[in-house]
This record gives sequence, C-alpha cells and structure tokens, in this order.
Amino acid sequence: MADNISESGFDLNQVDRLLTTTRAVRKRLDFERWVSDELLFECIDLAEQAPTGGNDASRRWMVVRDQDIKNKLGELYAEVGTLFVDARGRLDGTGHEKEKVVSSSAYLVENFAQAPALVMCAVWGIHDNSGKPGLFDSAIPSAWSFNLALRSRGLGTAYATMLNEKRDEVAELLGIPEGITTLVCFPVAYTKGHDFSPVPRRSASEITYFDQWGFTRQKPSEDGTARIVDGQGIVVEIDTDARPRKVWEVASDITTPIEFSDELKAVRWITEGETTTGSIFEGTNSIAGRNDWTTQCTVTAWKERQTFEWRTTDIEEPGSIWRFDIAEQGAGSRLRFSMLIGENNNRSSAMATADPNQEQNVINARRQVHKANMQRTIEGIKSKVDSP
Ligand SMILES: Cc1cc2nc3c(=O)[nH]c(=O)nc-3n(C[C@H](O)[C@H](O)[C@H](O)COP(=O)(O)O)c2cc1C
Repeated sequence: MADNISESGFDLNQVDRLLTTTRAVRKRLDFERWVSDELLFECIDLAEQAPTGGNDASRRWMVVRDQDIKNKLGELYAEVGTLFVDARGRLDGTGHEKEKVVSSSAYLVENFAQAPALVMCAVWGIHDNSGKPGLFDSAIPSAWSFNLALRSRGLGTAYATMLNEKRDEVAELLGIPEGITTLVCFPVAYTKGHDFSPVPRRSASEITYFDQWGFTRQKPSEDGTARIVDGQGIVVEIDTDARPRKVWEVASDITTPIEFSDELKAVRWITEGETTTGSIFEGTNSIAGRNDWTTQCTVTAWKERQTFEWRTTDIEEPGSIWRFDIAEQGAGSRLRFSMLIGENNNRSSAMATADPNQEQNVINARRQVHKANMQRTIEGIKSKVDSP
C-alpha cells in the first residue's frame, strides 16, 4: 500500500486500520496465551492520555488475575448474560441479523473467566444525572483508548458492561469503596489472528446535520454553506413501540402524509397491481387551499417492512427523493423519514440558485417547512401504530 502520510506526520494507512478494525473480539480471544502485566501497564499508560474533565486524575484501573475472583466475576457476568445464551438457542441457524453477535456474546458469557486478565476501568464519582460533564464521563474516552492500544499490540477485548448491573456485588468482591463507579470490565487476551475488518456503518452524510438538527448534505460543501449542488436534505426520526410490520403498513400507504402535511392535498396510484420498484403514483400539492402542482412519483426502493423510497418528476434528475426507513429498535421500531432536494425539476432549487447570496437562506427556509410537515407525519404515524 502506498504511503499516506498526513500533514501531522501520521501514516494514515496504519491509523485508519487501527480505528476501523478494532472490533469486539470474543470467540477469537486466545485464552491459552499469557498476557504480561508489563503490557497492561503500557496500554493503561497510553489510555491515560485521554481527556479528563477538569484535568483531574480520577480514573482508576483494576486488573483481576486471581482465578477464584475471575470465576466469581464470571458467574456474576453470566447471571446478567443468560439472556444472550437463551437468545442464541432461539437464533442459531435462523440467519437472523443478530445471530452472529448474539452467538459471540453468549460465548463470552460462558468463557468470561478464562481471559488471562480482566481489566476494569473505574472512576472517582457517582453519576448524578446533573447533565453536566462529570468525572464519570472521563472514563469512557480512556476505556476506548485502552481498546485501541490493545489492538495495536496484537491483543483484543470486548467493551463489556454487563457487570454494571451487579455493581454492589462487584464492589464487595473487589473491595471497591463507595463513591467509585466502575464502567467496563475488559476480558483481555491476545487475538487468534489479526485480520479484523471494518464493518458497515451509516455514512457520515446520513447522520451528520449542519446548522439545524436534521439538515443533511450529501457531499462536502466547498465553503461550508448549503449549496443545491451538494445535495441538501432533511431527516426526521421517531421511535415507536410497534414492530416494523405495523409501522410499514402505515408508512407504505401513500395516502398517510395527506393527513399530516399541510401541503399535500391528494395522491393516487397511476400503475395498477402490487407496488414494486418502478410503480408510479401522482401527488397533488395545495398551498392556502388552492391546487399548486401535480407531480409524478416513481417508487425507487420498496422493501417490505424496511424501505419505501420515491422520486418526483424524473428518476434520473429527480426534483426530490423521499424515503422511509424502518429498523428494529429494542422491542419496537425506529422510523426515519428523509428527503433530498434535487438539483433540478423543483422550484426551491431554481429559486435558490437564482441568487448565490441567498441560496442558503432559500434552501433552509424551504427545509424548515418540509421538516415541520415531515415531523408531523412521523408523529402521526407513531400515534396510529402505537395506539392500542
Ligand atoms: C456501551 C457499550 C456496552 C457494551 N456492552 C457489552 C457487553 O456487556 N458485552 C459484550 O460482549 N459486548 C458489549 N459491547 C460491545 C458491542 O456488543 C459491540 O461493540 C457491537 O456488537 C459491535 O461490534 P463491533 O464493535 O465489533 O463493531 C458493548 C459496547 C458498548 C459501546
């Protein structure tokens, strides 16, 4: 791989590999290989370079080596973790999206005490829910640095927090005084092989908002302002108690937004039969009670219980792209409703680009209107699916 040295002198190939491949390691922990105290000190020293609120030296680390104590911690961990062992029984062989992580977590539940070292990160202080950054929050950055330091040296771990549900028992077992919070207990071992890979995550452009909550841009802006050419969008999201199947029924019904948007007046299917990618419907908008425009919409993604996307006007040069995404969230769902303003075939982009000095203001004013309508729509969907 060619050198990729940053302005500050770092080899970005190496840095990025470390940042993108430090995974939760469980089944590939090598419990047979000894880990030295020296190496643990080294990784803790590195982790202690992390920021700390008030520059206060309040973090404490505990390394558990004694097999009896490890066994007791393992039993406590297993009391909380039985849910993973039970879930593994249900999911194994089903191809469920959580099958792998559940199987891996259950393995750790059964083998927690086998790690050559259990390393706990703790901090002086009790979380007071004051909303202010507390000492408590200082432990998290260093705990992650510890993970990275381990990975860089051929070791691995999982960010195991389930013992937090057994804080009193853990404190008693390890002689931890009152006023100390333990946050994470890392099962540390060398890894079997070092070929860990990045995993799919949402892209920055989907989850980064500029200047207003929910205002997205598809491409980086040249000068930091919102420009039509960069793909300006909006996202609103809501959690429901209802399962994806029920949310899908309402979100995939094209008439739903009429009830909640003060701009959409009517919709009707043009194509007949079952909806698929390529199906066409028509939407009519009204402003102040009069018909304003009618536009054709083409379905460009249709995945039951997950995704419904449509493009207005032209598929290649859409005036806008609208999309519902539904994902399981705990026992319910998270509904995401997003839209993107196209470069052409819509009035806002024509108005926005007419005067570059006003471009951002025009786009943002339009986005505030869309955002309000979209917010009402997802709240309306929630009230429909969550009502008994
Ligand atoms: C706050 C937090 C708590 C976690 N608690 C546990 C835990 O108790 N047990 C465990 O095996 N993994 C735990 N994990 C690891 C996650 O399960 C893991 O990061 C996730 O499955 C994604 O895998 P990846 O990190 O390899 O991408 C935790 C991670 C975080 C950030």
